[in-house]
Amino acid sequence: GAARPRLTFLGTGYLGATYAICFAELGYEVLGFDVDKAKIAMLSEGQVPFHEPGLDELLRKNLASGKLRFSTSYEEVADFGDVHFICVGTPQRADGMAADLSYVESAVTNLAPHLKRKALIVGKSTVPVGTAEWIEQLVRRHAPADAGVEVAWSPEFLQEGFAVEDVLRPNRIIVGVRSEWANAMLYAAHKGVFDLAMTEDREVPVVVTDFATAELVKVAANAFLATKISFINAMAEVCEAAGADVTLLARAIGYDPRIGNKFLRAGVGFGGGCLPKDIRAFQARAQELGAGEALRFLHEVDLINQRRRQRVVQLAAELLERPYGPAGPDLSGVRVAVLGATFKPNSDDVRDSPALSIVRKLARSGAQVNVYDPEGMENAKREVGDVSYTKALTEAVAGADLVCVLTEWEEFRNADPQALGELVAGRKVIDGRNCLDPVVWTAAGWEYRGMGRPVFS
Ligand code: UDX
Repeated sequence: GAARPRLTFLGTGYLGATYAICFAELGYEVLGFDVDKAKIAMLSEGQVPFHEPGLDELLRKNLASGKLRFSTSYEEVADFGDVHFICVGTPQRADGMAADLSYVESAVTNLAPHLKRKALIVGKSTVPVGTAEWIEQLVRRHAPADAGVEVAWSPEFLQEGFAVEDVLRPNRIIVGVRSEWANAMLYAAHKGVFDLAMTEDREVPVVVTDFATAELVKVAANAFLATKISFINAMAEVCEAAGADVTLLARAIGYDPRIGNKFLRAGVGFGGGCLPKDIRAFQARAQELGAGEALRFLHEVDLINQRRRQRVVQLAAELLERPYGPAGPDLSGVRVAVLGATFKPNSDDVRDSPALSIVRKLARSGAQVNVYDPEGMENAKREVGDVSYTKALTEAVAGADLVCVLTEWEEFRNADPQALGELVAGRKVIDGRNCLDPVVWTAAGWEYRGMGRPVFS
């Protein structure tokens, strides 16, 4: 329609594909772009290349209605769109902690020469502060001078597993702009979100700001969330030393609304494609800006997070009464069932997954590891090849000396400890996510160890 700008999303990973599909659902005409031909072929045929609840149906519905299409042609993207969202990945660089911006650069410099009329390029990927300004320069260099292409920044905050909901019903929209035209265009590009909110009697707060603040909002939010998780995991370490229970501690402090009860689950720590790399890239960028000291605590946040992974191996040695040498424990001949491979439930994402990092450590200590995950098996196999993968929970635990629950899938939380107990060689369980009931498991004859929890008997 004329009132609504036509939208394109460059990069159809978790972020871009979800946005493209959801904005078609909101009524926009949308074109999704990726350089990966296989991904575009899959999406065009109605297959989401990753697991995200609810997304498949929306993809098929909006392909059928003609609102949504996919392409591998920059020229087509430029012809089609009024607003182009950059959603490509910004992984950690191989040579350090900084973010790799080569995909962003490639998307912008390949698109810009084809932009024949006025259009808005909007950055969504998580980037170091200063990137929007750099993109503006790239556009000035590569787009036709008379087209008047402008740049804006609008970070996103979607959580995997809740992505559809987070895109359709965001808790805020950040608008980093340098002109009234860009502001109005970005408003029009989000009108569907505001309209939906209105019909549901909600409001979506909007923060209009400069480029640098808009970029920082995203990394600051993720740094805060990572810090909150590491804070409670640090308390878990103290609880372990003092014989206290971090789950009750978290509940108790969480009743204070200034603290809040969310993101206070102690366990194997945070992973995924965002938090770990984002806090590192943030430190690297602050260093470049001469503000490194301000973020030194994030190094500690990272260390606490890494220590939780090692803690599981230590608990395994303890439970199995194996000696713990300077090179770690000797777990040779021990059969360990690992339940969970993804970095969190309701996702098939294994990027920087604590579960897989622990699998590697267990295997390195000589343990024979059987891994089972409801959705993440294919991705896990690609990451860690030299362990066994099983098709079912029961198959993974059969004959095991130790069971480790490392991702809190509902299937594991609901597992019957009595029935599982009959399959294993030894009833020993490490609850890496504090998601099982120690009373129930102990009553079923299991030796239970949680994270930051006392020994139950
Ligand atoms: C995160 C941010 O939440 C999101 O706003 C941002 O856009 C991208 O990064 P996501 O990576 O999907 O989203 O996962 P999230 O739910 O935040 O969990 C991150 C990690 O922290 C997971 O490994 C999770 O298991 C762990 N976590 C989370 C905890 O260990 N304890 C908690 O209390 C919460």
